[in-house]
Amino acid sequence: MPFYGLRTLPHMPVLSESSPTVRDRLLSLPPLLYGGLKLESRYLLSPLAGYTNLPFRRIVRELGGVGLATTDLVNARGLLDRSPKTLQLIETCLADRPFAVQIFGGDPVIMRDAAQLLEARGVDSIDINMGCPVSRITKVGAGASLMCQADRTIDLARAVVESVKIPVTVKMRLGWDSTQLTAPAFAREFEQVGVAAVAIHGRTREQGFSGVVDRTGIRKVVEAVERIPIIGNGDIRTVEEGERMFAETGCHAISMGRGALANPWLFRQFVEWEATGEYSPAGTFDDRLVLLKRQFEYAVEQRGIERAITSFRKMAHWYLKAMCVSASLRNQLQEARTRLEFDTALDDIASQGPTRGSRSGLLPSLHISVPAGPNANW
Ligand SMILES: Cc1cc2nc3c(=O)[nH]c(=O)nc-3n(C[C@H](O)[C@H](O)[C@H](O)COP(=O)(O)O)c2cc1C
Repeated sequence: MPFYGLRTLPHMPVLSESSPTVRDRLLSLPPLLYGGLKLESRYLLSPLAGYTNLPFRRIVRELGGVGLATTDLVNARGLLDRSPKTLQLIETCLADRPFAVQIFGGDPVIMRDAAQLLEARGVDSIDINMGCPVSRITKVGAGASLMCQADRTIDLARAVVESVKIPVTVKMRLGWDSTQLTAPAFAREFEQVGVAAVAIHGRTREQGFSGVVDRTGIRKVVEAVERIPIIGNGDIRTVEEGERMFAETGCHAISMGRGALANPWLFRQFVEWEATGEYSPAGTFDDRLVLLKRQFEYAVEQRGIERAITSFRKMAHWYLKAMCVSASLRNQLQEARTRLEFDTALDDIASQGPTRGSRSGLLPSLHISVPAGPNANW
């Protein structure tokens, strides 16, 4: 399959200083469509393995503003084998709509069959993972390694698209490394085979999370396609950073991962800003405590108390850091083994309050961490 050269198309002008404001442009755009699926906002939750589970998706949706939420990456073969762990990743509920499942795999037949299984279960949209840098995934020809094999990868995308009626999207990075920035060419090919949208994290696989997001690279992807929406992704923690992503790339929508862990109100803030130019502050210490407890109860509902306590630790880390809870109380919650220990730790956290900022006012913004160690091992 040939790769077409890039061409700049007039449909999505990138704003210069003399252009209308970003908000004016967004307000003039038609609603965000994934094929026939209309999304209520252009602010999407990016998949985060270990975090974007049903309890967290319910929380961000309740706070408002989320156009679409996607599961963690899900093994296509695990779906076909009906592996209980894999099936748990695609559990959903009525409030969790519209709902996309991200699948990974390198075999077109398995990916196709997994897509059909998901469609039969009522999933709204399927996302193909082409960005995961972890060697466990890339060595089986999946994740970011798909960006190194043009023909096979386009055939795989076509096989998935043609096997279902629901929209199929792709999430990828700019390329494998700085010598192979294949995202624009892939995006163009994907559009030709019927992919409904492409989300692009503005880094290469080799970069992992180092350096800064290359918005020029994302812009080249926007310019490479004719009509499908391109979702800009990477390092958006505030409305101002999102505005910059729109302004410098001309993208049609944005997705947030770690920024949403630090501030689950982010989607609502974007919707408010788009409509009025202003937005309400993120939640206070007290608001976050309420949210933490609610998310934990959703986890208990889904997994039972024992699994909820262990599986919630990663998420609790983000909540407690954002709430400026002292290190000793953070440890106390992390070490809780029973419901009583968990609740006692939360009572102690509630009575001590934040170490900086106030209980009912603004909290200092949270430093956003990245996975530690070489990206092949995450
Ligand atoms: C802990 C963690 C898990 C992730 N899991 C996935 C995943 O399952 N699928 C995927 O496509 N991207 C995954 N990503 C990448 C994010 O979706 C996103 O592209 C990246 O974090 C940059 O966006 P952000 O700065 O808004 O977080 C993960 C990132 C992190 C930090």
